[in-house]
Amino acid sequence: MIVLGIESTCDETGAALVKDGSQILSNITATSSDIHEKYGGVFPELASRRHIDAIVPVIEEAIKQAGVQSSDIDLIAVARGPGLIGSLLIGMNAAKGLSIGWGKPLVGVNHVEAHLYAAMMGAPRLFPALGLVLSGGHTLMLKIDDVGTYTKLGTTVDDAIGEAFDKVAALLELPYPGGPHVEKLAATGNPNGIPLSAGKVKRSPLDFSFSGLKTGVLYAAQKGGSKADLAASFQETAFQDIVAKAALGLESAGPVQAIYLGGGVCCNQRLRSLFQDRFPSLPIFWPPPHLCVDNAAMIAGLGYFQFIQNPTCAPLDLEVLTRIPIA
Ligand code: KG4
Ligand code: ZN
Repeated sequence: MIVLGIESTCDETGAALVKDGSQILSNITATSSDIHEKYGGVFPELASRRHIDAIVPVIEEAIKQAGVQSSDIDLIAVARGPGLIGSLLIGMNAAKGLSIGWGKPLVGVNHVEAHLYAAMMGAPRLFPALGLVLSGGHTLMLKIDDVGTYTKLGTTVDDAIGEAFDKVAALLELPYPGGPHVEKLAATGNPNGIPLSAGKVKRSPLDFSFSGLKTGVLYAAQKGGSKADLAASFQETAFQDIVAKAALGLESAGPVQAIYLGGGVCCNQRLRSLFQDRFPSLPIFWPPPHLCVDNAAMIAGLGYFQFIQNPTCAPLDLEVLTRIPIA
């Protein structure tokens, strides 16, 4: 079964063709991050306009690179949210148009759930498991009983982890999106050079808070701390907090068989090695970097899984949702 996935939740326009939920035939992404750079974050209206320009060429390129015909496509899967309303509408309407035009079924998938699914594509499914989505828009820890069956353990009460990386990058005068630049600079600094602490949320030990940490970096920067030490200390403090809360999450979830992680921040090598060191006895599944960041292959993959479970076509009034609780 060949699925066309369409992703347009934020500033990436993506289209991918995926066979049977895990064999990626093509995975095309066009980003509008160049236009957001001067704002230090995504400018929603400009992102939507770029999606309009990019969506058709990106889909055409995905079909071309996969070497298939539109008639070979069995299902269209679209990220229906969460995300920016104007951006979501472009992907959704393209998907609906193709569904009508080609007479193919349509399914809407949750972008955050798809980030987790990216870690499961081509990997064994060992459930129950602990799941973490660490991205620019989301910081979420869950217990996974099956694909589609989750219990929320913790989330951020303020900034998402990737957002904190992007804001710290902006105050260190690094380019947007900041995560990879902070990681690179951090490698040259002292992770214990500047005392910082991540937030604890009263009576919610599994929740995250990064806005105070970000302010801590701002104050230390104003005092003239070395940029490399600031980047290293920020990264280390944030990741030690995530690993510590994952350990608490494992206690609260009961026995699990594995950890699955997804989202752009999972590209970070320091994060990966901290997890491997802390949980050596558990299999830990990370998507390859191109599937950590926003992409349409994970949307096609999860769409396939959903359709196999429940082979019904979404109604053509399927709405986009800026927020969707996953559990
Ligand atoms: O998953 P993603 O592409 O988009 C969302 O759904 O939000 O994640 C993008 C986020 C950005 O905040 C970016 O700075 C961060 O992932 N990121 C990183 C790294 N690469 C990307 N953060 C830390 N270290 C990295 N190497
Ligand atoms: Zn994402």
